Amino acid sequence: MSCTIVVGAQWGDEGKGKIIDILASDADVIVRYQGGNNAGHTVVVGEEVFILHLVPSGILHKGKTCIIGNGVVIDPAALLAEIEMLRKKGVEVDGNLLISEAAHVIFPYHKVIDKRRGAEIGTTGRGIGPCYVDKMARCGIRMVDLVNEDSLKRKLKANLEGSREFDFEKIYREYLDYGKRIKIYLTNVPVFLNNAISKNKRILFEGAQGTLLDIDHGTYPYVTSSSATAGGALSGTGVGPTRIDKVIGVVKAYTTRVGEGPFPTQFKDDLMEKIRHKGKEFGATTGRPRRCGWFDAIITRHAVIVNGLDEIAVTKLDVLDEMEKIKICTGYKYKGKQYKDFPADIDVLTGCEPVYEEHNGWMRDTTSVTSYENLPKNAKAYLGRLSKLLDVKIGMVSVGSKRCQAFRA
Ligand code: IMP
Repeated sequence: MSCTIVVGAQWGDEGKGKIIDILASDADVIVRYQGGNNAGHTVVVGEEVFILHLVPSGILHKGKTCIIGNGVVIDPAALLAEIEMLRKKGVEVDGNLLISEAAHVIFPYHKVIDKRRGAEIGTTGRGIGPCYVDKMARCGIRMVDLVNEDSLKRKLKANLEGSREFDFEKIYREYLDYGKRIKIYLTNVPVFLNNAISKNKRILFEGAQGTLLDIDHGTYPYVTSSSATAGGALSGTGVGPTRIDKVIGVVKAYTTRVGEGPFPTQFKDDLMEKIRHKGKEFGATTGRPRRCGWFDAIITRHAVIVNGLDEIAVTKLDVLDEMEKIKICTGYKYKGKQYKDFPADIDVLTGCEPVYEEHNGWMRDTTSVTSYENLPKNAKAYLGRLSKLLDVKIGMVSVGSKRCQAFRA
């Protein structure tokens, strides 16, 4: 592994935090490339549970350089709170964390707009979408502006012109102060990363959310506002495509989604509660209950294609341990037509009937299994079928939240 991208291959919450945490032990640099503190990466180290929203999960490994790239949108208050939380738990941050000068900054007005307009999409209300809107409208304020008084004053004044709701002076002072505290982390990330690559350092690119939440390739408009797919790792850090060696997709052994939007394989019966309970399917950021459903090979095959996945890591296989029958969606039926490929039309995704194949479950506890060979026969058959349907190899399997509950396939 020299340059590896890790992406979510469903609607986020696939367990990327844990997979990245495992891969981070073989990496020198771990870099987040998009999203903001809408993400919640859960990592269990010993008995301690860490939920990280902005800082790459690699920070939990001693001596690794962790980077927040330009594609990320940063709420400075949330960032400083996370740094403080890590320090309190004895994690060394200073000297290990670098932040792109070109990353855009979330302001209070972004959060207010998000809370006002985000309900239909079911956003996290963290100001993510409105911040990316300003970025695209070319009136965004970047980290580098927080350490330049004149630039911050000019840009913030222009953004707040005519607003009675927000006190310019108060926000200006508050954000200047953030700038002073964050300055030590700011750097030119493209130069840092490309130098590291030329010295053969191993770089891990950490995606947030998932392919089906990607602004271009997801279930638009029920998506987040960034490029969560592998392409986003390049534009979101300043590393070119010729430098990438491998792309790994993380998929849950079933499917979940938080917030609004189509979800063809969502459970319609008491399986929803059963899986939600067993899989602890509650948002790591907002605490919202996640919607749960069967594995959908249509959306995941789409993720294999648009990310160019080399392999997948299948997580939470153990959550299916007590299922007598397990279904996989292999197609959609809508108005007399069969769909084998992911449809762009939201009406098809909302109104379609999933086509399922049914498999026998394994009805055995897998949480202490430590190798692929020792998985129950039906679990191996299930994984084999996923691999065949998705046309991608399975590189890793995870059977619990602890670091040790995962193995190569
Ligand atoms: P936003 O990213 O807050 O704008 O929310 C847009 C959509 O993405 C909503 O449906 C959110 O629930 C969803 N979303 C955002 N971040 C995550 C995540 O980390 N995991 C799962 N869903 C997410």
